[in-house]
Parts: sequence; structure tokens; C-alpha cells
Amino acid sequence: MRGKFITLEGIDGAGKSTHLTWLAGFFRERGFTVCVTREPGGTGLGEKLRRILLDPENSMHAETEAMLMFAARREHLDKVIEPALARGEWVMCDRFTDATFAYQGGGRGVDWQRLSQLEQWAQRGLQPELTLLFDLAPEIGRQRARGARSADRFEQEQDDFYRRVRAGYLQRAQEAPARVRVIDAGQSVGQIQQQLRDIAGALCR
Ligand code: TYD
Repeated sequence: MRGKFITLEGIDGAGKSTHLTWLAGFFRERGFTVCVTREPGGTGLGEKLRRILLDPENSMHAETEAMLMFAARREHLDKVIEPALARGEWVMCDRFTDATFAYQGGGRGVDWQRLSQLEQWAQRGLQPELTLLFDLAPEIGRQRARGARSADRFEQEQDDFYRRVRAGYLQRAQEAPARVRVIDAGQSVGQIQQQLRDIAGALCR
């Protein structure tokens, strides 16, 4: 049986990595083989593209950025995501195409229609079974995100950029209400886990 494809989204600092780890454990405990991966990245070439994309030394046209995201994604689908789904594994991906609509579309202003064309090209009809969107005000995300490491090219952006990213994410959620579940990331971890337990439990049945 083909596996399920689940993606996690949200602005930096929304806590998706914490919840991804918890959810992967939830599914493993129920006997599923879980493949955890991320974007941009997930393959040898994809991780090289990630370094280029996140390096504050590189400046590039917003459409170049969008195309590099999709180039990494095409490779990721071909080498990791599709084969894992075909083996029956559950693929949990830390960010996917909604991030491109949110960051490059909402944040940088790349035309939504162009992104839809690239989406169609890279994915054919493939869409995640479920997308969890951890929604949070940028001011709160910023406070949470900053650890010891220095800011990457996206983290250097201001709250204004992140407000547009957030709006882009919410627009995607509105366009695909059956796929995208919006979770209020301002809640406590316990409250969020309770919500995730319900959503993930329904997926296991
Ligand atoms: P992420 O892996 O969440 O970074 P970190 O592990 O440092 O929290 O994502 C890296 C950055 O890439 C993030 O700021 C969002 C950005 N991004 C895009 O702009 N477009 C995309 O399509 C994807 C997948 C990520």
C-alpha cells in the first residue's frame, strides 16, 4: 500500500520542527515506517542548493530563488519522496510547496500564477495528503526563532516580510481547505499536541 505524504509549514519560529519530531514518534509507535525529510534539501544536490539559497552572501532575483526551490523539489520528489511513498512509508516533510507560495509569492512578490505553473511542472498532480500549517504572528516567531546561530538569508528579513509570508500561507490554506489544517501556534505545546493527536489519529484509521 502506498504511504501518506504529510507536510509541515509555518513561519520561522512557529515550532514546526518540534511538532514534526513528536508526530514522527506518534506514527512510529503505531507501526508505520516514517521517512523524515526537509526542504529545501533532502538530497545531496538539494542540500547544496539549500546552502546557496540560505547563504546571506548570495543575492538573487526572486524568480531565481523560486526556480531553485522547485529544482531542489523536483530532485527530492524523484530521489526520496516518490520512492518512499511507493515503498509504503509515511513521508513527513519539513516545508514543501506552500513555503514557496508563502515566501517567494507572498514575501517576495513572485506571481502566484507562475508559481502554480512551476508547481504543476515539478509535481504533476502530486499534493500532500495533509499539511499542518503552524500559524503565528511574526513578532512572536522572531522572539522564539533566534538561537545562538547567526541568521540565514530569510531570517534576516523584517517583520513586514514575515507578515506577507503569513498571509501567503493563509491564502494557500484557503485555496485548499481539505488539505491544509491551520493550527494556532500561539497555544501551549500541550494544547497543540492534543490537537495533533486528533488529526493524526484520524489519519491512522
Ligand atoms: P527551515 O528548514 O525551516 O530553516 P531552519 O531549519 O533554519 O528553521 O527553512 C529554511 C528557509 O527556507 C526558511 O526561512 C524558509 C525558506 N524557504 C523558502 O523561502 N521557500 C521554500 O520553498 C522553502 C521550502 C523554504
